Amino acid sequence: MIRVGVIGTGGWGKNHVRVFDELQCLGAICDMDRSRAEQYSKKYHVPGYTSLDEMLRREKLDAVTICTPASTHFSVASKTLAAGFHTFVEKPMTTNANDGAALIEEAKKANRALTVGFIERFNPPITELKKMITENKMGEPILLEFHRENKRGEGIVDVGIVKDASVHDIDTACWLFGEHPKAVYARVGAMLVPLEHEDFATILLGFSGQKTAFIVTNWITPNRVRTLSAVFSGGVVDVDFVTQQTSVHEGSVTTTPTRQYQEPLMLEMKAFVSALEQNRSPLVTGEDGYKATLIAEAVLASSSSKTPIYLG
Ligand SMILES: NC(=O)c1ccc[n+]([C@@H]2O[C@H](COP(=O)([O-])OP(=O)(O)OC[C@H]3O[C@@H](n4cnc5c(N)ncnc54)[C@H](O)[C@@H]3O)[C@@H](O)[C@H]2O)c1
Repeated sequence: MIRVGVIGTGGWGKNHVRVFDELQCLGAICDMDRSRAEQYSKKYHVPGYTSLDEMLRREKLDAVTICTPASTHFSVASKTLAAGFHTFVEKPMTTNANDGAALIEEAKKANRALTVGFIERFNPPITELKKMITENKMGEPILLEFHRENKRGEGIVDVGIVKDASVHDIDTACWLFGEHPKAVYARVGAMLVPLEHEDFATILLGFSGQKTAFIVTNWITPNRVRTLSAVFSGGVVDVDFVTQQTSVHEGSVTTTPTRQYQEPLMLEMKAFVSALEQNRSPLVTGEDGYKATLIAEAVLASSSSKTPIYLG
């Protein structure tokens, strides 16, 4: 059985802890906030640490997940890889692409898996959409239009919305199209509060041929919107990431396949654990994490230069 340590048990990390406990893989937890470390150590009957170095030294773990703020990902992941643990880093993998490239090298050197929390790939309607594309069910995919909008969550302070939220849709677009964009054009800005970082972004990604992704993200819309409309030569597929509902429009006929709701985080972590058990590379690679950050950087550069950015 794989033993996983969770580093960072705040707003999102506590969900990692719960899921690994359910999977019977939880080995230890670490949070520099003593009250959290004690709370989850008690609740789940696992050793709790406030020092990462101490946990890495004392615990015989196979893997760790990193749920600390984005600006700490590079230094924490460098340590966990060097200590010989397979490493799952929450998104964004790093706050800049150079650190992402360095982390990939560190994972290679350590001969350990490096993967990133692009959870939407495990969201059942997206898994199904990928299958439809692979099996050519709806013809050629032309346009992916994403909306990810909601009031700003508490606790996110170290990156703007592009690296915090748009990266999900950047990764999903690349995964569904099976390639990376050749051109990026974007406008981003800060609207509501005097933020250090942007709180809205409208992004156009140009892929090969006519394939395009249009990504709208903001921390302004009061209600939670997370949708994707995928336009194919043979019809349109609408997905709601939250309700997991899919609507397939072909000609004048609309069908809504039914399936049971499944928690994406549980599916993501099951896939992570089984990749490690079977000695396979996880579905999301360090390279995917690096590319998403590189594209996010191009988004910010495009907006500040008011020009498209062409990627090699
Ligand atoms: N995949 C998703 O859908 C999703 C959703 C929410 C958040 N996230 C990501 O999860 C990460 C954490 O976000 P959050 O909202 O839980 O943040 P948070 O601020 O609520 O929690 C971070 C926790 O990490 C702890 N911490 C910070 N540095 C540490 C260190 N060096 N060692 C040990 N503990 C440390 C803090 O004490 C805190 O408890 C971010 O990268 C965020 O983007 C992903």
